[in-house]
Amino acid sequence: MSFEEIKELHDQSLMPTYGRFPVALTSGKGAVCYDTDGNAYIDFGSGIGVNSLGFCNEGWIDAVTAQLHKAQHFSNLYYNDTQIAFADKLVKAAGMARAFLCNSGAEANECAIKLARKYSFDLYGKGRSTIVTLQNSFHGRTVTTLSATGQEVFHNYFFPFTDDFRFAPAGDIAALTETIDDTVCAVMLECVQGEGGVLPLEVDYLQAVRALCDERGILLLIDEVQTGVARTGTFLCIEQAGIKPDVVTLAKGLGGGLPIGA
Ligand SMILES: Cc1ncc(COP(=O)(O)O)c(C=O)c1O
Repeated sequence: MSFEEIKELHDQSLMPTYGRFPVALTSGKGAVCYDTDGNAYIDFGSGIGVNSLGFCNEGWIDAVTAQLHKAQHFSNLYYNDTQIAFADKLVKAAGMARAFLCNSGAEANECAIKLARKYSFDLYGKGRSTIVTLQNSFHGRTVTTLSATGQEVFHNYFFPFTDDFRFAPAGDIAALTETIDDTVCAVMLECVQGEGGVLPLEVDYLQAVRALCDERGILLLIDEVQTGVARTGTFLCIEQAGIKPDVVTLAKGLGGGLPIGA
């Protein structure tokens, strides 16, 4: 199919939710992908942080194909060996206690938000449900993760949004400290703000946030949906600050192109 034919079919059958460049991609190998005219492109965006092993990595294809020949899905009503082996590897690589598995970054962040609110409810009861996130952050496109996202442009149309999110300027520990009162149960942030413009947070700031959370008895949730799975040189970006979050979320690169979140 030509680009024009693909575009025409696209316009007929898909909702216009994304602004797309006028290129139709058809295949890829390693770092390079190809369009309908055979032009080659190096994909520096990695499918927005998704293709962690590049296009059509042989080991990835073998692993996925072998699993497809075994079974494509079991429900969570039963135990299964693949899920357990994956979770065991994941918690060891991330240095965390246990994993919850899902399908996307937004779902992983929804889970982190629920986890923080439940933890706080169990300890203190109602009234401590506020989560502070950073201005310019991005945490997903569900109604609740849009509410958690610190960009006004995402707080339109879909009212009512989920209550109890507050936004602090990134990198400013004094401002963050001021936003935390006794209604707050957690702080959630990206180590490098991705959609907000590729803005890395300073190690000193991240360490100060950890200390502040400890001092106030609140949880630190780190969104590593875009930075995780070794995209910044360590399995988790937060490792470079020498601190441990209470909850960390992953997706994108975790499946190398298949929808997995944790
Ligand atoms: C930091 C961050 N969190 C969450 C998300 C949402 O992930 P998903 O698109 O897999 O729902 C994204 C997606 O760009 C992201 O960059």
